[in-house]
Amino acid sequence: METLTALSTPAGRADPYPHYARLHELGEAVRLGPGVMVVVGYDAINTVLRDPAFRVADETIWERDFPGWQDQPVLVQGADWLLNINTGKHARIRSLIARAFTARRVAGLEPAIRAMTEDLLNAMADRGADGSAVEFMRDFAYRLPVTVICELIGIPESDREGFRPIARDLVGIFELNEPESMPTINAAAVDLLAYFTGLAAQRRADPRDDLLSDLLAISDAADGRLTDAELLHNMTLLLVAGFETTTNLLGNGLRIALLQPAVAAAVRVGEVPVAAFVEEVLRYDSPVQLTSRVGYETKVGGAAVSDGDNVMTLLGAGNRDPRRFAEPDTFDALRSDGSPLSFGGGAHFCIGAALARLEASVAFPLLLRRFPRIAPAGEPVRRATLLLRGFDTLPVTVR
Ligand code: HEM
Repeated sequence: METLTALSTPAGRADPYPHYARLHELGEAVRLGPGVMVVVGYDAINTVLRDPAFRVADETIWERDFPGWQDQPVLVQGADWLLNINTGKHARIRSLIARAFTARRVAGLEPAIRAMTEDLLNAMADRGADGSAVEFMRDFAYRLPVTVICELIGIPESDREGFRPIARDLVGIFELNEPESMPTINAAAVDLLAYFTGLAAQRRADPRDDLLSDLLAISDAADGRLTDAELLHNMTLLLVAGFETTTNLLGNGLRIALLQPAVAAAVRVGEVPVAAFVEEVLRYDSPVQLTSRVGYETKVGGAAVSDGDNVMTLLGAGNRDPRRFAEPDTFDALRSDGSPLSFGGGAHFCIGAALARLEASVAFPLLLRRFPRIAPAGEPVRRATLLLRGFDTLPVTVR
C-alpha cells in the first residue's frame, strides 16, 4: 500500500520504476485490500489480459459503481467504446471497425507520414537555426500523430488545429479523476461528437478514400449491426486513443536517445534496426502504464482473485519484470527477449499498434539523421498523469 501511495505522488509518477521493482519483490500479483489487486508480473498480466473471464468494466459495472453515469455525456459515449465493452458487443463492433482499419490502409499512410515528418523537421530546423531551443513535444511529437490520425479518419486540414485542447480534455477520462474535472471532460465529449456527426453527414453524401467513409459504408451495409451512435462514439475513441499515446512514444524515445548518444548514433547509422529501437522504447518507458479488469474467482500469479475485484495490470511494471527480462532497467535495443506489454494483449489488443509503430519507425531515423547534434536544452517536464506516461515539454537544440 505504501509503495502504491508513493507511486501516485509527483515523485512516484516522475519515476515509477523503483516502486515497480519493490512490487516485483512482493510477487507477481499483490492484494491491496478488499476488492483491489495489483498485477505486476509479465506472465500474470498476460494471463489476465488474454482470459476473457476477466472483463473490462462496462456499463453494468458503472450501473453498480456510479449510479447516474448516464447523466455524464462522456460515459454515455464511453459505454460504446471498444475499451469498455465485452464479449458479443465487443466482437461485433471490433470486427466491423477492423474491416475499415486494415493493415493496407495503415501501410498506405507511410508516404504521407514521411512527408509530414519532413515538413515538421524543416520547421524545427528553421526555428532552431540560430541555436535557440525548439520544443519537441509541441512542435513534433504532438503534431505528427494528430496529423496522421486526422488523415486516416478523413478530418479536413482546416479543422485539425482546434482539436488538441479538446482531445487533451477528453483523455482526462483515462486518469483517476477528481469530480471537478468532469464538466470539462463532458464538454469535450459533446463537442467532438457534434463535430463527427456533421462530418459523417458530409461523408455519407460525398464519400472519400478515408476511414470514416469506409466505416459508414460498412455500417450501412451491415443491416443495423453497427448503429450510428456506436460508430460515432468509437470515432471519438480512435481520435483520442491515437493522440497522446503515440505522442508519448515519440517523446519518451527521443529522451532516451538524448541521454544515450551511443543509442542515437546506432539508430542513425542503421546499426540498430529502428523497429528494435521502437520496441525497446515501448518496453523501457511505456506510453500507457496500466489498464484494468474486473476479476472473477480464480488465481493469478499465485494470488487469489475474488469475484468483482478491481484488477489493475501495471503494463509498465510487467515490462520491467526481472523474471522475464534480463537486466530490465537497462535500455538494450538488441535484446532478444523483447515483446513488451505496452499495447496490451488478448481481445482488447491495441487496434492502432501497427500505426503507432509505423509512425515511430519513420520518424526516429529521419529525425536523428537530420539533426545529428540534437541535444537537450534544459530539463524536460513530465506530465503529471499516471496512466499515460510522457512529457509536457522536451526542449532541444538542433544545430
Ligand atoms: C504508442 C502508442 C499506443 C499505445 C502504447 C497504445 C496502447 C494501448 C493499450 C495498452 C490498449 C489496450 C487497453 C486494454 O487492454 O485495456 C489499447 C487499446 C486501443 N488502442 Fe491503442 N495505443 C497506442 C496507439 C494507438 C493508436 C495510434 C490508435 C488509433 C489509431 C489506438 C487505438 C486503440 C483502440 C481503439 C483501442 C481499444 C481496442 C479494444 O478495446 O478492442 N491506439 N491501446
